[in-house]
Amino acid sequence: MFEVAQLRVGGFDDNFSYVIYDPESGDAAVVDPTGDTSKILAKLSDYPEANPRYILITHGHADHISGLEEVRKYFPATVIAHPQCRIRSSILLKDRMRLPFGNSYVECIFTPGHAVSSVCYLLGDNSALFTGDTLFIGCCGYCDPKTMFHTMREILYNLPDSAVVYSGHDYGEVPFDTLGNQKKVNPFLYLTNYQEFEKAVKNL
Ligand SMILES: [Fe+2]
Repeated sequence: MFEVAQLRVGGFDDNFSYVIYDPESGDAAVVDPTGDTSKILAKLSDYPEANPRYILITHGHADHISGLEEVRKYFPATVIAHPQCRIRSSILLKDRMRLPFGNSYVECIFTPGHAVSSVCYLLGDNSALFTGDTLFIGCCGYCDPKTMFHTMREILYNLPDSAVVYSGHDYGEVPFDTLGNQKKVNPFLYLTNYQEFEKAVKNL
């Protein structure tokens, strides 16, 4: 069972960073290092034996990577980012690539729409989905509507209900929710009609 810490790091606009930890193997990952990186360091210090495996970047916007260089100093992990992200990754990431993590993996799912470089990360036990600015609780990020509609309907809607959605900003009524519930209450996820979706996106 993975442990996920959702960290209110402030940043540009109520950003979240995350620390993922696998107690069995000691493998650890950080998602979107940004804002007040001392909160990330404090969380990592709870796991002095952790193996720094990955820094997972959901997309290349500045408010999601501003703490990258700082966090790398004490968490020397492989940086994972979409090839079109202006960040050097030592792995050439491909859609649906599975990165070994503990006895399981992290699946990298390309989800363009908010950014060309948007990636969601699904934990191998389907317990958590890190969505960056693609999917917020009750909402979605500014986007190209056509690309985002495809991402919502053809990709995110088909992911497991059990996954807890951990997004890049604290914009929802609650800080996180299951994808199953978001499929019921988040119009950007449940709208099946493109015209309605486009209209909703214009009001973002
Ligand atoms: Fe963004």
